[in-house]
Amino acid sequence: MRPGDLIKRKQAGQRFAVLTAWDALSAALVLEAGADVVLVGDSLAMTVLGHATTLPVTLEEMIHHTRAVARGLGAAPASQPLLVCDLPFLSYQCGLDQAVAAAGRVLKETAAAAVKLEGGESETVAVVDRLVRSGIPVMGHLGLTPQSVHRLGYRRQANDPISQERLRRAALDLEAAGCFALVLEHVPAALAGALRRELSIPVIGIGAGDDCDGQVRVTADLLGLTPSPPPFCPPLLPGRELAVEALRGWLERQRQSAAPTTPAAPATPHC
Ligand code: KIV
Repeated sequence: MRPGDLIKRKQAGQRFAVLTAWDALSAALVLEAGADVVLVGDSLAMTVLGHATTLPVTLEEMIHHTRAVARGLGAAPASQPLLVCDLPFLSYQCGLDQAVAAAGRVLKETAAAAVKLEGGESETVAVVDRLVRSGIPVMGHLGLTPQSVHRLGYRRQANDPISQERLRRAALDLEAAGCFALVLEHVPAALAGALRRELSIPVIGIGAGDDCDGQVRVTADLLGLTPSPPPFCPPLLPGRELAVEALRGWLERQRQSAAPTTPAAPATPHC
């Protein structure tokens, strides 16, 4: 799967689904489940690295995790899902050259074929334009953008006509700059649906209703592994409880099983 294939899917009216992965194990799971796109999201900062926000994760760490995910996906490029890596906070906000260097490292040092970045301010649109011109496919991300948590929080975005028009403009700008797809996180469903119809690139929703070209979810949330998933990502199974229960049972059985008998000392040979 290539970035452009997602646009063809939209044109053909075929929906698709994106799942996150963070290591070889999670990558093998989402591959076997049949994900169309695998995103190494910087949400891994919170879900697997234990940070309070996505801000601390580094480019080095994203590359490390993306390489592990690629190993988990195996070596069958033709049938593989598209692998996308999030550019972490401050890897693309400090100048166009630095953004190209960061995104270039992702493509050179991992098997990712695209990067994702957050925001639709004019500076970010300029970054997208420069990356795309450098041959680096870019997925955009608007609405709830966790890298801006200290400015916007984790609440639903674009709730009034003025901010909806601002988001619409940003989406059109990102498309014009060359994004091949756009994630819309935690925005009103009617806005996501309107943008799906207006944009030629696919709109990928999370907490944005069903009227999107594709959906994305954080796999750890779906599996019920994260302690407090967002309200728009209800778990599919109680993964934490099942895992803890199974481990607790195993530990209990080990403590209760009879102590191994000491093997008899070998008889001293007589000469
Ligand atoms: O980091 C991430 O996992 C994401 C998804 C929520 C889209 O950006």
